[in-house]
Amino acid sequence: MAEREQWGSRAGFVLAAIGSAVGLGNIWRFPYVAYENGGGAFLIPYLFALLTAGIPILIMEFTMGQRFRGSSPLTYARINRKAEWMGWWQIAIAFVISTYYSVIIAWAISYTYFSFSLSWGDNPEGFLFNDFLKVEEGVGYFGSLVPGVLIPLIIVWATTLAILFKGVKKGIELANRILIPTLILMFLCIVIRALTLEGASVGLDAFFRPDWEGLKNPSVWVAAYGHIFFSLSVAFAIMITYSSYLPKKADINNNAFITAFSNSGFEILAGIGVFAVLGFMAVSSGVGIDDVAAGGVGLAFVVFPQIINTFPGFNEFFGFLFFGCLVLAGITSLISIVETYVAGIQDKFNVTRTKAVIVGGGLSALISLVFATQNGVNILDAVDYFINNFGIAVSGLVTVVAMGWVFRKLPEIKDHTNRVSDFKIGSWWTFCLMVVTPIILGIMFVQNLVTNLT
Ligand code: PHE
Repeated sequence: MAEREQWGSRAGFVLAAIGSAVGLGNIWRFPYVAYENGGGAFLIPYLFALLTAGIPILIMEFTMGQRFRGSSPLTYARINRKAEWMGWWQIAIAFVISTYYSVIIAWAISYTYFSFSLSWGDNPEGFLFNDFLKVEEGVGYFGSLVPGVLIPLIIVWATTLAILFKGVKKGIELANRILIPTLILMFLCIVIRALTLEGASVGLDAFFRPDWEGLKNPSVWVAAYGHIFFSLSVAFAIMITYSSYLPKKADINNNAFITAFSNSGFEILAGIGVFAVLGFMAVSSGVGIDDVAAGGVGLAFVVFPQIINTFPGFNEFFGFLFFGCLVLAGITSLISIVETYVAGIQDKFNVTRTKAVIVGGGLSALISLVFATQNGVNILDAVDYFINNFGIAVSGLVTVVAMGWVFRKLPEIKDHTNRVSDFKIGSWWTFCLMVVTPIILGIMFVQNLVTNLT
């Protein structure tokens, strides 16, 4: 069997891990989730979830990949022969996510293009659903393919697969080395401009004003944990796969902290930027911040075009920067998601990277066409809801319980990472993974079941 590929440098690996973590979730998901869950008070459960679940699991997955040197299924199989399915299950979730994640990036490409002429006009909502997505009732199950989505979707897949064909060092690493610094520069431009807008402080006040009562609400904690998993790309086979390309002696603990803090730093910056702009919008249109803040797809593709319209000068450029950032952040994450199954196929069937990319990438690209149809956005909403409410928490729960209680692998992992890392992790790490995280994720799971079944 061919020698396993390796990263060219430590910075290359860390940039790729950051590229995976920083994605669509950071730019539109975090600001909205934070706002909905008590503004500034959300930062406390958020940091708690980061320290007790996000970083400990990231250290665990980095170590698993480096020690067992395989894609997620191979890594789990090497831990215990009966555990291979866990890796495939994580890959299955990653696969589903990639099919619609790619479509949202495609929308962002179209919107980057629309920015040049502010094509959405005075009614961005009508534009999004009627003119762009061509949503129509009574068109059958899927309706026909929408060319405005299809063409950028082809660009998304062609770019992603071209990068993956090139391999770990010349493809994934090189792409992240170029795209991540560009993304950070572009994003800083937006945040600085946003902070100098009139009304910025109103938005920041809404974002940072703590709602202490909210801390007593369990669903705020559930939201914080869910978001940390999504945002850090843990429990989806991704970080195991990326770290399986690490040299045997590379530092783990430092890299995990750098990755996690960069991701959260970017995320909080995104919150500041988005809310400063929402504050501007609220003040200039004389309404409350609640009337302009909207979640998910709406925030990015309806509220932002509205804001861009009213922007004092350089509207087109600002639109280009915002949607361009979504595209860059999204592509570097999509690469990591698809790499999970490319690596899985390669290890399992002992085929070349090229074949694995054609089969795995080709299949997900094909399935993603479903979301490029006239009913695509409705199907996308449903799949995303299911993944967020069941896929993510359940996958995290199964992972920590299996590693901590079933296979009892944590002591071995801790020894390994402390041997290769500069600074050592203590018993807090084991306690978080064996006790704190399983309890909280368990409650999350039951709560979700109850709210969805009743
Ligand atoms: N973490 C990335 C984001 O915030 C991408 C991602 C999402 C990875 C979901 C895995 C699962 O968008």
